[in-house]
Amino acid sequence: MERTAVYPGSFDPVTNGHLDIIQRGLKIFDRIIITILDNPAKKTLFSVEERTNLLKESLKEIDNIEVDSYDGLLVDYAQKRGAHALLRGMRAVSDFEYEFQMALMNRRLNREIQTVFLMTGLRWIFTSSSIIKEAAKFGGNIESMVPPVVQKRLQEKFRTSG
Ligand code: PNS
Repeated sequence: MERTAVYPGSFDPVTNGHLDIIQRGLKIFDRIIITILDNPAKKTLFSVEERTNLLKESLKEIDNIEVDSYDGLLVDYAQKRGAHALLRGMRAVSDFEYEFQMALMNRRLNREIQTVFLMTGLRWIFTSSSIIKEAAKFGGNIESMVPPVVQKRLQEKFRTSG
C-alpha cells in the first residue's frame, strides 16, 4: 500500500523551511500532497492561485508530490484523498502549543489520521512566511530563505503595493 501524507498549510508563501520538510518527508512517505488550506487566523498576501503556482514552480524538480488546495476541514480532505498521515514541521518551542492543540483536535475529529512532526532543520528554525514577508516588505535580503521564484514575486508584490 502506498503511504501518502498530506502536508497542509497556508504557504503564504512557500519558504525553504517548507521545502526542507517536504524533502525529508519523502524519506518516510511514498507520496506527499501539499495542500493549501484556510487558516482563519491569518490574512494572506497571496491568493490561493498564486500560492499554488509558487509551490508548483518551487517543487518542479521533486517527484512524488502533488500540490492542491481545499476549502474545508483538513481531516475530511485527508480522508477523501486516502491519506492516513498529516505532516507538519515543528520549529522552536513557540510552535508546540499551537501544533499540539491542532493535532489533538484533528485526532478527535478523525482517529484514523495521524499527525507526524518533523523538526525543522536548524537553518530554518527562526524563519517563517510571516517574518520573511515583513523583511521583504522593508527591502531586506531574503534570498537565502525562499526559492528564487518566491523572492522575485515578493519583490514585485511589495514594489507594486508601494
Ligand atoms: O501554515 P499554517 O497557517 O500554520 O497552517 C494551518 C492550517 C491551514 C493547516 C490549519 O489552519 C487548517 O488545518 N485549516 C483548515 C481547517 C481545519 O481543518 N482546521 C483544523 C481543525 S480545527
